[in-house]
Amino acid sequence: MALLPILRYPDPKLHRVAAPVAAVDAGIRKLVADMAETMYEAPGIGLAATQVGALVRVIVIDVTEDKTGLRALINPEILERIGEQVCEEGCLSVPGIYEKVARAERVRVAALNTEGERFEFEAEGLLAVCVQHEIDHLDGKVFVDYLSPLKQGRIKAKLAKRARVTA
Ligand code: NI
Repeated sequence: MALLPILRYPDPKLHRVAAPVAAVDAGIRKLVADMAETMYEAPGIGLAATQVGALVRVIVIDVTEDKTGLRALINPEILERIGEQVCEEGCLSVPGIYEKVARAERVRVAALNTEGERFEFEAEGLLAVCVQHEIDHLDGKVFVDYLSPLKQGRIKAKLAKRARVTA
């Protein structure tokens, strides 16, 4: 396994749309393993392939405290959205920034597992937020895109300043 570099907002590569996985093969399984390791090391609760520069529809998620709930979703799709919740979100590509975003409260999701088998599940609360946030990444969307242009400008300025300080 290997740690992968995570793209940082406002890298334009974060706004590219990922292509569906045609075949779940050893290459995809290695990507899933590397993404999981990268997510745990960060540490984070979700990571999309877009964030590590791979333009394929693959996400990993683990919202459990003890890191025992790893889910790999390949070609994930939201079948149904129910209700609404507003949650403070963060993102490994936007370090140190947390903002409220409105999402569906519950979602029904279909995806392929690492064996290439289709499965469905229902998510609510934090897991539902995470699934929606990560699928957004596959569509080239970062959570700050939901904020006002003013807030987006402030976040860009803050991240640019921090990059200068740590460079
Ligand atoms: Ni994110």
